[in-house]
Amino acid sequence: MDIEKLEALAGKAAEPLSKETGKIQVVSHFDADGICAGSIAYHTLKLLGKNFDIEFIKQLEEDELKRISVIEADLFLFTDLGSGQLDNIRKYIPDKIIVIADHHELQGDSWDNLYHLNCHMAGLDGKDEISGAGVTYFLMKHMTDKVSSMIYLALVGAAGDVQKKDGVFKSVNNHLLEEALKLDAITIKKGLRLFGRSTRPLHRVLRYANEIDLPFADDESKCIQFLSNLGIPMKNGNNDWITLSDLTGEQEKKLATAIILNSDVTSNKNNIVGNIFIIPTKYEIREFATMLNSCGRMGKSIEGLKLCLGMTDNIETIQKAYKRKIATYLNLVKKDSTMIRKTEYVSYIVAKDRIEDNFIGTILSILSNSYFDSKICFAFANSSNGVKVSSRAHKSMDGKINLKEIVGMAVEVTGGEGGGHSLASGAKIPAGTEELFISEVEKHIIEQMQDTRTE
Ligand code: C5P
Ligand code: ZN
Repeated sequence: MDIEKLEALAGKAAEPLSKETGKIQVVSHFDADGICAGSIAYHTLKLLGKNFDIEFIKQLEEDELKRISVIEADLFLFTDLGSGQLDNIRKYIPDKIIVIADHHELQGDSWDNLYHLNCHMAGLDGKDEISGAGVTYFLMKHMTDKVSSMIYLALVGAAGDVQKKDGVFKSVNNHLLEEALKLDAITIKKGLRLFGRSTRPLHRVLRYANEIDLPFADDESKCIQFLSNLGIPMKNGNNDWITLSDLTGEQEKKLATAIILNSDVTSNKNNIVGNIFIIPTKYEIREFATMLNSCGRMGKSIEGLKLCLGMTDNIETIQKAYKRKIATYLNLVKKDSTMIRKTEYVSYIVAKDRIEDNFIGTILSILSNSYFDSKICFAFANSSNGVKVSSRAHKSMDGKINLKEIVGMAVEVTGGEGGGHSLASGAKIPAGTEELFISEVEKHIIEQMQDTRTE
């Protein structure tokens, strides 16, 4: 793990930011990691009294860059994006100082005005060793030590980008975790590792938990009965549904034992009791990442930024609307089989106008984990300037398939632009080119799968 190298690069990239007295434009990604990265940058620049604006965008496509290039600023800071679009940044913003803090793979060449901080440049893999928020944290640490109060956001970002596997952070993320524990910016407690610790009613946590195999979990009333048999109340003194975070240690232990005793013993789902990471606002880390993600997808990234800064006004309304949309889209895919196509290795969703482009990646992530048997999935949805493509591969495909490469090759044929990681990649392609894209993907998937068989 080459943290010193990352630190040294961070020092260089921080120089123009520290010196800048003119206007700084921060551009960050609109997902949980990008909102955390943007919030770390916002907090630091504010502390230092810099003159800046911030915006969150879906993707740094050519059209977006054209728009951004006319913003009046002396320095552009890109966080959780930018490394994959070097040539276009140089093309559209050649004369301004550019600072990038990112963990996506590099594409394109460097130039004089570019101050680039990317973990890959220090030999660190941006897929699971550090997030965009983590890289931004290293950059901002060189501007002021006071940013350490935001260190937990580097880990929320990592959790948002699915870098916490089976409850464990590795490499730089683990180093950041140790730092955060020392600073009391994160607390760890042993508990039930079920999703929705403080945002879902407890019976619904059981009802929707992927992590466990309760034989009756599909039946909400049986989940309620199960809790009541354990003597766990359903509502608190204010008549609100009780959540997992409301339980006493004893109650949580009792519940954990009952879940283990009642679960399908043949299932390999285990480790349901483990470390729970709690941030200063009392949320569990993954659940906080989901809240930020919902803000971004609902077009309310600034509300996500506020949440990171400790203001929580609108979050419930946003989350409710977000959950409703997700549920509607999931039902739609399950009911309308005309959207789905399956080949030997891949499941495809061709949604056209039926799913919003902001949601297609999230819907694909959920379905690829819980609905499709295929280990590789692709989805397409119309967007304002073409077709949004998302792709996901199961973690067991790590090292066997590279979706970023496959998407890149398909984009060369259809036109458009893409990027991402080996197990999660995306693109924007011209309207109506889905079929051509699919046939290219099929060709390359078959090649890569055959290569792994003959190895
Ligand atoms: O949008 P989605 O969640 O499917 O994106 C998966 C990955 O692909 C992300 O890392 C994203 O930044 C990347 N991506 C990209 N270019 C696009 C769309 C997605 O680099 N046009
Ligand atoms: Zn990221």
